Amino acid sequence: MDFSPLQSARFAYSPKLPAILRGGIDKVIAVKGSAAEPAEDKDRLRATFPRTYGLPSITLSAGENPGIRKAMRIGVILSGGPAPGGHNVIAGIFDGLKAANPASSLYGFRGGPGGLVDDRCMDIDGELVDRYRNTGGFDLIGSGRTKIETPRQFEQALETAKRRKLDAVVIVGGDDSNTNAALLAEFFAEASLRDARSEPIVVVGVPKTIDGDLKNEAIETSFGFDTATKVYSELIGNICRDAASSRKYWHFIKLMGRSASHIALECAFQTRPNICLISEEIEAKQMSLGQIIDQVVDSVVVRAEKGENFGVVLIPEGLIEFVPEVKFLIGEINDILAATEYEFKALTSFVDHKAFILERLTEPSAILFESLPRGIQEQLLWDRDPHGNVQVSRIETEKLLVEMTRARLKDLSAAGSYHGKFDYQAHFFGYEGRCGFPSNFDADYCYSLGYAAFALAASGLTGYLSSVRNLTAPADQWIAGGVPLVSMMNMERRHGADKPVIKKALVELDGAPFKEFASRRGAWAESSNYRLPGGIQYFGPPELTDRPTHTLLLEHGAAEG
Ligand code: FBP
Repeated sequence: MDFSPLQSARFAYSPKLPAILRGGIDKVIAVKGSAAEPAEDKDRLRATFPRTYGLPSITLSAGENPGIRKAMRIGVILSGGPAPGGHNVIAGIFDGLKAANPASSLYGFRGGPGGLVDDRCMDIDGELVDRYRNTGGFDLIGSGRTKIETPRQFEQALETAKRRKLDAVVIVGGDDSNTNAALLAEFFAEASLRDARSEPIVVVGVPKTIDGDLKNEAIETSFGFDTATKVYSELIGNICRDAASSRKYWHFIKLMGRSASHIALECAFQTRPNICLISEEIEAKQMSLGQIIDQVVDSVVVRAEKGENFGVVLIPEGLIEFVPEVKFLIGEINDILAATEYEFKALTSFVDHKAFILERLTEPSAILFESLPRGIQEQLLWDRDPHGNVQVSRIETEKLLVEMTRARLKDLSAAGSYHGKFDYQAHFFGYEGRCGFPSNFDADYCYSLGYAAFALAASGLTGYLSSVRNLTAPADQWIAGGVPLVSMMNMERRHGADKPVIKKALVELDGAPFKEFASRRGAWAESSNYRLPGGIQYFGPPELTDRPTHTLLLEHGAAEG
């Protein structure tokens, strides 16, 4: 492998750990707190997870723990989309495991959860880990989106874990992957009773996703969000400057993030674009597509009056699912596809697919579907992901909004109330941000999450998500522990049926980040005074290298991110 200078320099970076994890691995004990229950659907969740419901939350604290030095065999899985820092989670688990007992072994299941089902496994040794420390990507072992759901798949996963004589499996993933981790923990716990094993094979999750939507009181942020938003913000800042230099384009930029608008909101704080749409607000205000266009057009018209026929619009990836009329349409399509999967797939042309769906939609949904451009119609009918989600990254919302804006401006122009020139560029930033070199924040956070995951596994604690809190303080003051996975779940409709899932955290309209944004966006809509964050800094003073996101700072009570 030919390493770049930055790659080589990053191999040598020592991630910062919370003080409790720096004092020797056998000086860490798992202290149990009170039982953690889910906020909703308690009875149904208790029935689904009889063995792992109501577990206590865990804080890793100082104490003598010679038992942690037993030799262990741990398997690790990277699941779902890549997020910067995944390799440091593996490094953290590896270093914790080896510090406790050099005879312990770490195995990587290749290509995501499917690797556990099909037993695609590789040894992870020190030499290999050293070639991936503090670098982006998931390529050390690969990732995948297979959902372990059939009884046969659960049995196969157990067979693999037993064949490999594993003591624990660590699943690094987002809300859906950690839902899977919870189901697997329950299954392994149940199986250990059948086998009369003294201890179940432990399952521990790690909160990953650039989307930033796996968070709650105990999980302050998912890893990868920090780096990805900084990568996108650098690009958006550059585009803002290009817009102000060339003065001829409105840039419509769709940003990844699935349903939640956390990424768009964070990038707005970093760059101060003219418009940033927030899906959660659109849903709360029950805004139609037409009203969304009003918001964009108002800014275009006001700026044109000042001779500024340029600007920047940020669009969260999942926006289309939050427009009530479109959400209703997507819900109907999901149910139709779930109920008629084979019939639908047997048809081969778009014309037949469209006719099949139109016949089954209610009248308002059919009218809306017909009114959308053909490209969007096709994209709405594409396969759902294995967890039943519409693949929003493939729906070209940015182009839909450009078309609708252009049409509205044409009408205004004809009526004499708009005299500007409108030209545009459409962008989608998503994959660009998922595999960057992790920022120092993500490098430190991921390494700490991996180390904590090892400590949970070595303490025999199954059904937990590794957690590291107090993240706006310096790393030595971070608090490490574990949150019971079931405590974060509720019941949701997926593939036409109610399923237990970890609740996605959406942007809260009464939360500090949104309120701050709402108080400033009026000025941004008219101004060309963009903020230019520049690229991620890996070396230099901590105020440049270690600064967390505006979102995290505002959520922790900072006056301004
Ligand atoms: P995870 O939820 O698995 O972390 O994935 C995040 C994400 O990057 C979303 O933002 C995006 O919608 C999706 O993955 C794209 O999926 P794919 O990689 O399958 O195209």
